[in-house]
Amino acid sequence: MTMRRTRILIIDDDRLIRWSLRQKLEALAYDVSEAETGAAGLRAAQDLAPDLVLLDMKLPDAKGTDILEELRKSWPDLPVVMITAFGVIEDVVTAMRRGAYDFIAKPLEDAKLQNTIRHALEAAALKKKIAAYREIEQKKFVPDQIIGQTPVMVQLLGMVRKIAESEASIVLLQGESGTGKDLIAQTIHHWSRRREALFLAINCSAIPENLLESELFGYEKGAFTDAKHQKRGLVELADEGTLFLDEISSLSLPLQAKLLRFLETNTFKRVGGLRDIDVDLRVIAATNQDLERLCREEKFRKDLFYRLNVCPVNLPSLSERKDDILPLAGYFIAHYNKKFNKNIQGLEKSAEKLFLHYAWPGNVRELKNAIERAMIFEEDAFISPQYLPIRLNEPASSASPPSSDAPSAGSLSLPEAEKKMVVQALRQARGNKSEAARLLGISRDTLRYKLKKINLG
Ligand SMILES: Nc1ncnc2c1ncn2[C@@H]1O[C@H](COP(=O)(O)OP(=O)(O)OP(=O)(O)O)[C@@H](O)[C@H]1O
Ligand SMILES: [Mg+2]
Repeated sequence: MTMRRTRILIIDDDRLIRWSLRQKLEALAYDVSEAETGAAGLRAAQDLAPDLVLLDMKLPDAKGTDILEELRKSWPDLPVVMITAFGVIEDVVTAMRRGAYDFIAKPLEDAKLQNTIRHALEAAALKKKIAAYREIEQKKFVPDQIIGQTPVMVQLLGMVRKIAESEASIVLLQGESGTGKDLIAQTIHHWSRRREALFLAINCSAIPENLLESELFGYEKGAFTDAKHQKRGLVELADEGTLFLDEISSLSLPLQAKLLRFLETNTFKRVGGLRDIDVDLRVIAATNQDLERLCREEKFRKDLFYRLNVCPVNLPSLSERKDDILPLAGYFIAHYNKKFNKNIQGLEKSAEKLFLHYAWPGNVRELKNAIERAMIFEEDAFISPQYLPIRLNEPASSASPPSSDAPSAGSLSLPEAEKKMVVQALRQARGNKSEAARLLGISRDTLRYKLKKINLG
């Protein structure tokens, strides 16, 4: 892949200035184009799509500030740096008001020129990045997405709405995997006064510990070997908006301490920085682990837990709200009808029964996946049991032996036997993963891993 070099357009009628700028900028590996007049400059901006414009204040055919205005109108994100002969203060003020990024005075000083250009380009890149984030988040979110008509969900959504509209700056979402923590986090942002600002999410377990701190808080130039430039972290980028810290339980203890300090003061330092930076954002933390237990095991700081636990929202597992099962199924069928361009009418009666009797250890996500899979294969108007995952066809938990009996596997291949044992253990434990892990004699993490492997996690 060849990368396009950063292109700078110089609009200046002074040939000598253009020549000297070209020498300097090409030496810095920029791609340089020139225009002598305002009109030629606007044409060049159109043809060349530069990344930055250096614009003289006095042009033969127009005022620099007027050309600036034209440029800003057509390309609001294009940074423009003004060049002024003898700091005519009024012109400079006008130019800044009209959205020039900065100005440099002639004679042009190398260091000033270089820094101004670099800052202008960085600011433009950051703006673009933020715009992209915003677009992604807005596209992702459709507010009518939450299905929940059982009393426990109706009550929960009422509470979520109140929290969203309140000034509460910290929210804790707890619930098993697949219960909708991501969805609720986005909903809280969307229902809050912060909805126009950014919603940024980070999965604390997905990022290596040594990178997580700088990802969260940013760093100063020179903070470590690779820190060639200053970088802003998510906490700074999400200012005014919402930061979603997913899988909070996997934060290391030192980082927990830093997060606590941030939550208590609303200030932080970039890595390698001395200055405290103030921000105003809402932090939503989520976990599928039992934080109180982790506190007892000294894997999670108690003081951080108390700080997070001011506004706890506990998402019920799907087995605790069976009346939502069929509405959810209907919702996902409609969703995949659109996506796959199909016209499935619903679940067959016998499939409905299976849905209602199954424990759904993977909660809403598992149900969604089951529907997706069935809809790929189903050719009739209604989803029949044959395309549903095998585990749904196994007898319900009421038929399972008392939980003291260890799960058995019979004469199956090893992976099949393992799968069967896991499924059986989950059923015996009525979907409770800690209990299932205990029955199998493995850790909860190992069970989570196995569930992922067999597409149940
Ligand atoms: N009440 C609901 N109505 C509609 N869709 C839902 C609902 N709850 C969850 N979903 C959908 O189910 C899927 C899983 O939900 P989500 O990713 O929010 O779960 P999670 O709790 O964050 O899971 P994990 O702990 O694995 O990250 C998503 O596609 C989500 O949109
Ligand atoms: Mg999630």
